[in-house]
This record gives sequence, C-alpha cells and structure tokens, in this order.
Amino acid sequence: MRITILGIESSCDETAAAVCRDGWILSNIIAAQEIHSHYGGVVPELASRAHIQNILPVVDQALITAGVEISELDAISFTQAPGLIGSLLVGAQFAKSLAYSLNLPLISVHHMQAHVLANLMGGKENKGDIPLFPFLCLTVSGGHTQIVVCESPSQMQVIGETTDDAAGEAFDKSAKLLGLPYPGGPLIDRYAADGNPARFKFPEPQIAGLNFSFSGLKTAILYFIQNEKAKTPDFVEKNLADICASIQGRIVSILLNKLKKAAAQTGIKQVCLAGGVSANQGLRKDFVEMGQSLGWKTFIPKMEYCTDNAAMIAMTGYFKFMDQAFSPLSTTVSARASW
Ligand code: KG4
Ligand code: ZN
Repeated sequence: MRITILGIESSCDETAAAVCRDGWILSNIIAAQEIHSHYGGVVPELASRAHIQNILPVVDQALITAGVEISELDAISFTQAPGLIGSLLVGAQFAKSLAYSLNLPLISVHHMQAHVLANLMGGKENKGDIPLFPFLCLTVSGGHTQIVVCESPSQMQVIGETTDDAAGEAFDKSAKLLGLPYPGGPLIDRYAADGNPARFKFPEPQIAGLNFSFSGLKTAILYFIQNEKAKTPDFVEKNLADICASIQGRIVSILLNKLKKAAAQTGIKQVCLAGGVSANQGLRKDFVEMGQSLGWKTFIPKMEYCTDNAAMIAMTGYFKFMDQAFSPLSTTVSARASW
C-alpha cells in the first residue's frame, strides 16, 4: 500500500507544504516572508497574516508539483510545537479543516523532532546512506540548540541544550551589532568566507556538562565593537570579513566542543547536524573534519532540508503514520513544548 502524507509547516516566518510518499519527498514548497527584514526580526502578527495569505497557494503548489490528487492523500501532518502561537495556529487550523473535510487522520509533529529526522530524508536519494540508530544530532536553529540522542524516529532524548540564546540567535544578534540586516546568520557566513578566523579572539564560555551558553559571547562582541569603533569609527566596515570569520569560528567551536564531549560520553559515532544553522559553511566544514579525525560517520541534511521546510514535517508524519500515532481534531498548538 502506498502511503501519501501532506505536511504543513508554519511555526515561524516560512509558510511551507510538502508531499511525502513512502518515505520519498515528492514536493517541497516554501513561501518566505520578506516583510520581516524591514523590522530587524520576525513580527509575529505580520507572520500570522502572511501565513493566512500564503497557505492555500503553497499547499496547492505542493500537490501540483508532487503530481498528487487531494483524494490520494492518506493523512495530513502539521507542526504543532514549538513556534509563534499565531503562526502555528494558521497551519494547525488549515490541517485540521482539511483532515476533517477529507475524513483523514491528523498527525501533529514536533518541529525539533522533524529537524532531526531530516537526516533520514536522503535515504533513497543517497542510496541508503543515512544514519543508523542510535545516532547523535546537534540541532541548531533560530530558537533551539540541542544535542539529541536519537534511538528511533519516535524516541529522542535531549542531553544538552542552551541555557540562554540559541546558536541562530547568536549569529543573528552578532550580525545586528555589525549593522547587518535580519536574518544575519547567512550574511555572517558569506562574509566569513573571505576572513581570517584567528584575527580576533572571542571568549569560550565555561558551562558545565553538555549545555551551551551564548549570551556572554554576545556581550563580549558588543564591548569589542564599541571599543574599536571609539578608536576607529569605520572599524567594522574595514574589518568585516575578519570579524565575521572570528565570530563564526567561536560559535562553531562552542558547538563542536560540546558535540565532541557528547560523543565521547555516549560512545555514539553516527553523528548528524540539523536545523537552520547547519546551513553554515564553517560549521559544516569543521564538523566533517572533526568527524574524520574522531572516526565518526557524519551526516548533514541537504541544504533545503536544513532551514525550515515542510518536507521534514511530511517525513515525520510518515513515520508517525506507520506507528498509527494520530492526533484528535481537538489537538492544540503550543509555543513551547518539550519532547
Ligand atoms: O531552523 P530555522 O530555519 O528556523 C528555526 O526553527 O528557528 O533556523 C533559522 C536560523 C536563523 O537564526 C538563521 O540566521 C540561521 O538559522 N541560519 C544560519 C545560516 N542559515 C540560516 N546561521 C548561520 N549561517 C547560515 N548559513
Ligand atoms: Zn526550525
């Protein structure tokens, strides 16, 4: 029997829909919301309104691209948590209405679980080269920074996480201090490519265990820029590439030092990246090199499956369908939810 799942993602500022059939992604459509760049960050109310405008055409396009009729769907999966409450509500209400009208099962998906499972998406495209359970995953996004032990698609344990800012916030807030527009993470990545990461030294926080902290780094960058600008007003413009490379280098080393510790503690050598920050070139390169030196088998999702997307929601929906893990129509969304 062929299992065809429609996935809907609307947790933040991307309206996305995708179709997954038997573990294959047939379509992956994303409508980004440009409007937020004028405000230096995501404006929740504007995001909700844009989701309302985008969701119907995005779902339509996902079905057309997949070549799938609405009558061929077996279930509707959607992001239930975590995220902006108004944004989540739009996707959830749409998914519930569609499931109700088509008399299909509804599947609620945790966004962070879906980021982790994006690593299983390349299965067929990569000739089966996907991580074996149990694997470790460093999940780094705009809202989360976690090290997860993944025992199966449904069994995951967070063994380390940030105590303040997420890695993506560390990138975006640093970029803001440099006068770069939102979201600054990809821009720091771009400028860092031409810079020297050893030029400026930023502190590595001393946090016990496998947890992370990025707030001290942000403060150190703020004071550094203020001091240098007092001496040389155009310091940032003149040294942008080296500053970006040095900031990126420090964020990456904070992340990878903890991941190395987690791998040593758990003895797990199948190691993955996930989440928007795993699109970062510096992180990808250093992660692969660290993996080679420590004998890990490393995995990184394809670029379009690193940042927010609905393919990962449809794929997680597929795994949950196999477990018959359905949700009632009374399911509510949640801004914060652990798993
Ligand atoms: O997973 P994601 O798309 O959305 C959330 O669930 O938060 O992650 C978005 C975060 C943003 O902070 C963005 O700046 C960061 O990922 N990001 C990057 C890069 N691409 C996206 N950070 C650094 N380098 C990149 N290339
Ligand atoms: Zn995300």
